Amino acid sequence: MTHGRFITFEGGEGAGKSTQVARLAERLRERDLDVVQTREPGGSPGAEDIRAIALNGEPGRWSPMTESLLMFAARSDHLERTIRPALEAGRWVVCDRFADSSRAYQGAGGGAPSTFIESLDAAIVGATQPDLTLIFDLPVEVGLDRAFGRGLFETRFESKGIAFHERLRQGFLEIARVHADRCVIIDAVGDQDAVAARVWAAVEDRLP
Ligand code: TYD
Repeated sequence: MTHGRFITFEGGEGAGKSTQVARLAERLRERDLDVVQTREPGGSPGAEDIRAIALNGEPGRWSPMTESLLMFAARSDHLERTIRPALEAGRWVVCDRFADSSRAYQGAGGGAPSTFIESLDAAIVGATQPDLTLIFDLPVEVGLDRAFGRGLFETRFESKGIAFHERLRQGFLEIARVHADRCVIIDAVGDQDAVAARVWAAVEDRLP
């Protein structure tokens, strides 16, 4: 049975991921591949409901461990309803954020124990690990300027301060080191065409 490919995009705020997710999906479709473009938290009706709770309201009302449980609850539904059925049907899944965002935001950034997050990952994601993860990297100030320019600075995860975002960036770089088999760091500085070319090079290289 053919099995699709699973590509995830990760990184801090203002890295320009969402634009690049759409561009890659389009480029793969031009190659006649059947592509499902999705995102986290969200990507299925039930997970989108959890997203609406998780990303709104008083920041800090949950501990990083509780946030991890919410993110993995949404992820469990997303995997069951969207990702696994698509992969089993031979489709390519291109996802804006996935489990590495929990490792970085709740773990490295928030201080949730990595053993806790890894046990959730083992239980919920299991064998459905991404085939390729593109980690968008750029200096924190550049990313926050971009996010601020988009008027997004006020959303709960973007209003946490520079130190949090520095931990986040280092967290993502560490993930790329630990999971070097599936991760590629994408230099997110520069214009969208230049970044899109880097993304395509990584996809062609890793997924012939
Ligand atoms: P979104 O508006 O999609 O942000 P972005 O454009 O930066 O991807 O909001 C998603 C937010 O949720 C983002 O701040 C990261 C956060 N998040 C977590 O904290 N943990 C997770 O596991 C996931 C998937 C996202």
